[in-house]
Amino acid sequence: MIKRILITGGAGFIGSNFVRFVLNKTDYSIVILDALTYAGNTENIAEYLTDERCTFIKGRIEDNEIIRRICTEYDIEGIINFAAETHVDRSIMDPTPFVLSNVMGTVSLLNMARELNLRYVQISTDEVYGSLGNDGLFTEYTPIQPTSPYSASKASADHFVMSFVHTYGVNASITRCSNNYGAMQFPEKLIPLMILNAMEDKALPVYGDGLNVRDWIHVDDHNSAVWSVYKSGKKGEVYNIGASSEQNNITVVKMILKALNKSESLIQYVKDRPGHDRRYAIDATKIRTELNWKPEITFDEGLSSTIEWYCNNMEWCNNVRSGEYRNYYEKHYKQ
Ligand code: NAD
Ligand code: DAU
Repeated sequence: MIKRILITGGAGFIGSNFVRFVLNKTDYSIVILDALTYAGNTENIAEYLTDERCTFIKGRIEDNEIIRRICTEYDIEGIINFAAETHVDRSIMDPTPFVLSNVMGTVSLLNMARELNLRYVQISTDEVYGSLGNDGLFTEYTPIQPTSPYSASKASADHFVMSFVHTYGVNASITRCSNNYGAMQFPEKLIPLMILNAMEDKALPVYGDGLNVRDWIHVDDHNSAVWSVYKSGKKGEVYNIGASSEQNNITVVKMILKALNKSESLIQYVKDRPGHDRRYAIDATKIRTELNWKPEITFDEGLSSTIEWYCNNMEWCNNVRSGEYRNYYEKHYKQ
């Protein structure tokens, strides 16, 4: 019997890497549902579109009818929801699309999981916990204190997931991962933006004092954790995912410049992000001990293979940076 899951947001950065993971490492078939927003790109999954185990459908997760049709026609076993608006700076410019995709979209998927008794995994984020001071780590018991419109929308979605577990008995789990990096990340995010600007000798815009800390994990390590949660995670449980790789932003930027043999004079300190969270850091003890998961890729190795990927894929970079991205970049960085 064919086992098939619905992967939403499968044309985005993490989702498309997850598509590769599932098709290469498991015997599952998949349906990808993606709205192909500015961040979704069929080039990311081009090699799988002709695979008989993979079906791609363009559509929105808020669209109840399309979700119903997919789940019934394709006999879906479970849903893994990667689809979301994901960039904090864009959420500061305009929060509304974040409510539609991240909150309304999650509720429409949960309704279907409830009706058809499906397994459900919500891909959330460590940003729902807010910001840490110099010490401490986020555990699954850290209070939810989102600070940006993006993290508020993700936190709201998490509350809906838990409410569906408690009220209707939906078999759902939540993952909360730290900052991802790797191939095919849209270059609005720190690492690909800095790689591409450095390659082209453009200014590298570092917000504030550059000392904000993020806890980096390679996308492949995130995705192996998501699969463990889908298969073995418990109903109603949250799993933090992280690789204990804290770095401040300026260190990351300098590592990129060094790897590309470029001058630090390209660094330009710019106005800080409003409400900029100071530090994120994950305690992943629960998933490590209960699901026996561990990350495999060190930050040094992962950053260097990521830089190599961008250097070897300039056509992909130029395609995603044409049109909408250019307008966003001008508008955001001119401010
Ligand atoms: P991304 O922006 O690269 O991709 C998001 C994808 O979702 C795109 O393909 C887009 O077209 C699609 N999408 C957006 N709204 C949609 C809608 N309403 N219906 C259908 N598809 C829609 O994002 P990403 O970085 O790959 O993040 C994926 C998920 O992981 C998100 O839920 C995000 O909150 C979470 N997450 C990301 C990180 C990170 O560092 N990037 C870390 C932790 C968690
Ligand atoms: O922690 C998980 C989250 O990580 C995910 O949920 C989000 O979807 C993802 O976008 C990411 O959020 P961040 O805001 O941490 O990522 P971003 O790449 O936008 O920024 C990383 C750090 O770099 C942050 O401190 C802001 C800083 N920054 C970012 C950009 C784009 C700069 O200094 N300059 C920049 O131009």
